[in-house]
Amino acid sequence: MYIFYIPNLLLFREWPLLYDIAIIGGGIVGVAIARGITEQFKNVQCILIEKENKLGKHQSSHNSGIVHSGIYYKPGSLKAQLCSKGLDQIINYCNEHGIPYKMNGKLIVAKDHTETNALSMLYNRAKQNNVQDIEMLYTRQQIRKIEPKCNGIQALWCPNTSNVNWSFVTEHFANDFRRNGGDILLNNEVIDIQPSSDSAYPIRIISRASNEIKSKYLIICGGLRSGELSNIVDRISEEKATYLSLKVDYHLTETRRFNTNIYGVPNVELPFLGPHISPRLDGDVLLGPAAIPAYGMEGYRYSECGFTYLKNIMNTSNFQNMTRRYFFTCLNQLFSTFSPNYQAQQLQRLAEINAADIKPGPTAVQGVLINKDGTFVDDFVFDFFKGDGIRKRIINCKFLPSPAASCSMSIAKFVVDNFTANIEDNIFNL
Ligand SMILES: Cc1cc2nc3c(=O)[nH]c(=O)nc-3n(C[C@H](O)[C@H](O)[C@H](O)COP(=O)(O)OP(=O)(O)OC[C@H]3O[C@@H](n4cnc5c(N)ncnc54)[C@H](O)[C@@H]3O)c2cc1C
Ligand SMILES: *[C@@H]1O[C@H](CO)[C@@H](O)[C@H](O)[C@H]1NC(C)=O
Ligand SMILES: *[C@@H]1O[C@H](CO)[C@@H](O)[C@H](O)[C@H]1NC(C)=O
Ligand SMILES: *[C@@H]1O[C@H](CO)[C@@H](O)[C@H](O)[C@H]1NC(C)=O
Ligand SMILES: *[C@@H]1O[C@H](CO)[C@@H](O)[C@H](O)[C@H]1NC(C)=O
Ligand SMILES: *[C@@H]1O[C@H](CO)[C@@H](O)[C@H](O)[C@H]1NC(C)=O
Repeated sequence: MYIFYIPNLLLFREWPLLYDIAIIGGGIVGVAIARGITEQFKNVQCILIEKENKLGKHQSSHNSGIVHSGIYYKPGSLKAQLCSKGLDQIINYCNEHGIPYKMNGKLIVAKDHTETNALSMLYNRAKQNNVQDIEMLYTRQQIRKIEPKCNGIQALWCPNTSNVNWSFVTEHFANDFRRNGGDILLNNEVIDIQPSSDSAYPIRIISRASNEIKSKYLIICGGLRSGELSNIVDRISEEKATYLSLKVDYHLTETRRFNTNIYGVPNVELPFLGPHISPRLDGDVLLGPAAIPAYGMEGYRYSECGFTYLKNIMNTSNFQNMTRRYFFTCLNQLFSTFSPNYQAQQLQRLAEINAADIKPGPTAVQGVLINKDGTFVDDFVFDFFKGDGIRKRIINCKFLPSPAASCSMSIAKFVVDNFTANIEDNIFNL
């Protein structure tokens, strides 16, 4: 099995390429949707367009590697609904395809009495969200039976949380898509989307490599570049909400020291779950992360220029309202990022861990979406066929933060079902 598809055959075809459906963005969500379409409709001509030289190069390969079970999300939200469905689907898929994962479970620990109310709130949410086998542990003894090095006075134990390599899952989805006859076009960054003069293929998609694709329908899954792509299709220069990329620094510790995921009690208003300890499948243990604004939409390093990006965002009232509202959180994240000792102290409240054993780990970039009042958008955001003209033929997956990898299969079903219910052409009844 070769891992990444080289689209050599496409090079010999005549441009513009014509497709029933085009999908922009080859992260786990785009690939899952592409796969979902070709699993359901065997004769549809479908292309996935990705700007990088391989799939899943951004969030889908830079994350915590958790299959979330749906504890945190507001009952009834899209996250809550799609997570409980998605968990079954992804675990079944891994079982069927021999994709390695480990059901290590997860402890959410209250480090002192100030956190036990929030923990009870999480317990209730988990129950409402139908998370299986969740249990409140009231003594350190009970907690340490599960994870001997864990600190804390009370904990929520969820056995049904797994660790997986999301890159690997992305590759499997892509293999299914290709096997079903889907085409993958790498190294093509979409820079414009316009109406075409061809009524059979009304959408023109133009890439930086000057290639052109025409399609009947378009699904956009742009990940960190969702704001940029939304501006292209909606022809606007400013969004009501502000997209911000955060640079997220993990640490690693000695292999195989922990067998369970350990999280602190998060503030559910915030778009991160706080410091945590997660055993990876390769044996290393992932620690962290702390997040600060990135220098660019995909700003993994600070040496990359692109300060204008950050300057423009910092100048928005949404950003300023956010920093005002979450001043201490922002300060805390800054400390965690720039002082390894400070981060170690926070982790030590969760578990016994030596500062000397902590070494730098991977860096990721996370997208957050900030409302006018400075709060963070909490749920997934989709635009289904809104507006006029070609916009009626476009689905835009506008904001899919964590746990979108865990939900990738249920998101795919959600999108494909909506698509099927709305399309005008009879292209799928072949
Ligand atoms: C730090 C961190 C930890 C996380 N941990 C977890 C976790 O443990 N469990 C979980 O379920 N979820 C987790 N998530 C969330 C999860 O990783 C993401 O929600 C998911 O990967 C999103 O997938 P995506 O396909 O939407 O985005 P991406 O993977 O970012 O893919 C978007 C793709 O679109 C491409 N693209 C963008 N613009 C263009 C363009 N103009 N033309 C062509 N291609 C374009 C990009 O190159 C990219 O490949 C985490 C996220 C982060 C940041
Ligand atoms: C985990 O949860 C899923 C979905 O809620 C359920 O189908 C499955 O049986 C659970 N597995 C275990 C081992 O508890
Ligand atoms: C995850 O899988 C990818 C692709 O197979 C591989 O390159 C990467 O090293 C793996 N990561 C870990 C942490 O095992
Ligand atoms: C910030 O925004 C204001 C008004 O929106 C504008 O006048 C000003 O030039 C901007 N400053 C920078 C540094 O971009
Ligand atoms: C956010 O900022 C704008 C501009 O400074 C202001 O008009 C608005 O009232 C603020 N919103 C909130 C909820 O603070
Ligand atoms: C599709 O999405 C639209 C907009 O969110 C919604 O109104 C509609 O009910 C959805 N249709 C289906 C079949 O899911």
